[in-house]
Amino acid sequence: MRTSAPSSGPSLVLDFGGQYSQLIARRIRECGVFAELLPATASAESIRERAPKGLVLSGGPASVYEPGAPAFPTELLDLGIPMLGICYGMQAMVQALGGKVEAAESGEFGRAELTLRNAGGRLLGGLPEEQSCWMSHRDAVFEPPPGFAALASTPASPVAACEAPDRGLYGIQFHPEVVHTPYGTEVLTRFLREIAGCEEQWSPQSVIAEQVAAIRAQVGEGKVICGLSGGVDSSVAALLVHQAVGEQLTCVFVDHGLMRLNEAEQVVEAFCRFGIPLVHVDAEERFLAKLAGVDDPERKRKIIGEEFIREFELVEPLRMLFKDEVRAVGAELGMPERMVWRQPFPGPGLGIRIVGGEVNRERLDILRAADAILQEEIRAAELYRQLWQSFCVLPVVRSVGVQGDGRTYAYPIVIRAVTSDDAMTADWARLPYDLLERVSNRIINEIKDVNRVALDISSKPPATIEWE
Ligand code: XMP
Repeated sequence: MRTSAPSSGPSLVLDFGGQYSQLIARRIRECGVFAELLPATASAESIRERAPKGLVLSGGPASVYEPGAPAFPTELLDLGIPMLGICYGMQAMVQALGGKVEAAESGEFGRAELTLRNAGGRLLGGLPEEQSCWMSHRDAVFEPPPGFAALASTPASPVAACEAPDRGLYGIQFHPEVVHTPYGTEVLTRFLREIAGCEEQWSPQSVIAEQVAAIRAQVGEGKVICGLSGGVDSSVAALLVHQAVGEQLTCVFVDHGLMRLNEAEQVVEAFCRFGIPLVHVDAEERFLAKLAGVDDPERKRKIIGEEFIREFELVEPLRMLFKDEVRAVGAELGMPERMVWRQPFPGPGLGIRIVGGEVNRERLDILRAADAILQEEIRAAELYRQLWQSFCVLPVVRSVGVQGDGRTYAYPIVIRAVTSDDAMTADWARLPYDLLERVSNRIINEIKDVNRVALDISSKPPATIEWE
């Protein structure tokens, strides 16, 4: 079952390939306005169909003057919809309309001091004359197009913002979507609400009302099967469908045996409490038999994915929502806090955290026990919610240790804990030393087959969050 966008007054983000495009859409929704992300190549027709009130052009990695660089969609000018170009989006607009974009003497990455010109014009008027912002670019705008006013500059960007309000065109070189631009939300809100006239309509309640109506219309008197993976997304989707069609819903929970300690039981118990009929399929044996002897990570993923789909009709979760929005909807539907705030957990579960060797029950049990200790200590330290994910990895290697009078030859456990907004980028979490010490001691003392604990201190990029 797919969810759809609210039917009126949304904004569209045209994606020129920037690393922050998703984040722009998310920040716009935080301003209470629905935002959908479309590729920059989307046809004028598909844009017109969505009847957006405002268009935001994202950043991107290209240079506007390179052959083949994504072009500013001049055909959209006829639609008369206000546009805000961000970074590359602004450069493409400026270049297409007769301004000057060139490689700057040096790139500008990170924090920059912004000085307003022309009192900030319509877009930035009323904001502090000096403020910091976040930049990430090599090319810069040296002259705005004819009819545009320059609104701001930084030491490396002669024109860091410009506008032609009579034509509904606005551009900023800096990134309003990142937290390092303190007035970013004000700038987005100004554009969306005051300039484009987008209405406030994006809230957990409005999502629920809209989706419940859509699901009822789609399902009618029919029966619905909802596949549960045990994660937050599918649980929220199931609650939503239950709210819409009540007893017409049956949930199927395929337990692949790769969940965390007691997690399968918790899912079953929660659905019982909601009074939603749940069929619990214990498929552990079958999954482990298929995984026997498989080392290659992609094959592991494929086997788990294929077996999973074979088990039930797959239900798409809340496709349009970001994780924090799914959580807000879940909380609104009465989902218990512990379940709503569960950290993301990959579909293939612990199967992709046993690295460089076969996934089997012995290794799963070791990893599950270590993971349970880490979770318990992180919750006790009240750090669980601050972390995007925290988990253990079991590399299939053995190293020597000494315990009591004897030497051991056992597995290491790697602790991976990251902070992130959306899993696109992540930083390793600076966990307190005393917490790490407690976790390490407990893992080595309580789990016989582990004699070493290591901490992963890599960010993403260049590493990834998961190890496989
Ligand atoms: P990476 O490891 O690419 O992960 O930094 C980004 C996010 O995606 C999750 N992840 C997966 N989720 N199936 C899933 O359902 C997978 O195969 C998979 N691999 C990674 C990961 O946990 C993180 O939240």
